[in-house]
Amino acid sequence: MIKRNIVLNGTEKVVVAQVGDSLANVLRGQMGLTGTKVGCDQGQCGACSVIVDGKLVRSCVTRFSRMAEGASVTTIEGIGTPAGLHPIQLAWIAHGCAQCGFCSPGFIVSAKALLDEKPDPSREEIRDWFQKHRNACRCTGYKPIVDAVMDAAKVLRGEMA
Ligand code: FES
Repeated sequence: MIKRNIVLNGTEKVVVAQVGDSLANVLRGQMGLTGTKVGCDQGQCGACSVIVDGKLVRSCVTRFSRMAEGASVTTIEGIGTPAGLHPIQLAWIAHGCAQCGFCSPGFIVSAKALLDEKPDPSREEIRDWFQKHRNACRCTGYKPIVDAVMDAAKVLRGEMA
């Protein structure tokens, strides 16, 4: 067993896990944060994306034991609440980005990491980002997703209400 102090969505937590546990399984199974989805469980679909110390990671292929003491983890639950949706989430709804919805948490976390790093991306840069980080959607095609990220970026830059 291993023990880590982490900051999970802004709150300090002490987590005890098995040495081989993935971060995804710790988040979903132990911490009850089931917004993080596990699709392929092999690092190929991006459904399990979370932000660790400012970097986007696929939590299904991240061993919890590799986490640094004091690491900061942001999941979809830390990005918005039903009463206070994040601009990316509002744009997701406005553009109809979710059909089955399974990939949406991973995409939204990924988009957050992108806009934290690059507040004014081009459409091509958004597509490249999702491709690089392997975010995959089987329902919508990617146009509404790119449209949503473009709009959310404008809102976050204060250029659109
Ligand atoms: Fe982690 Fe697919 S579930 S990348």
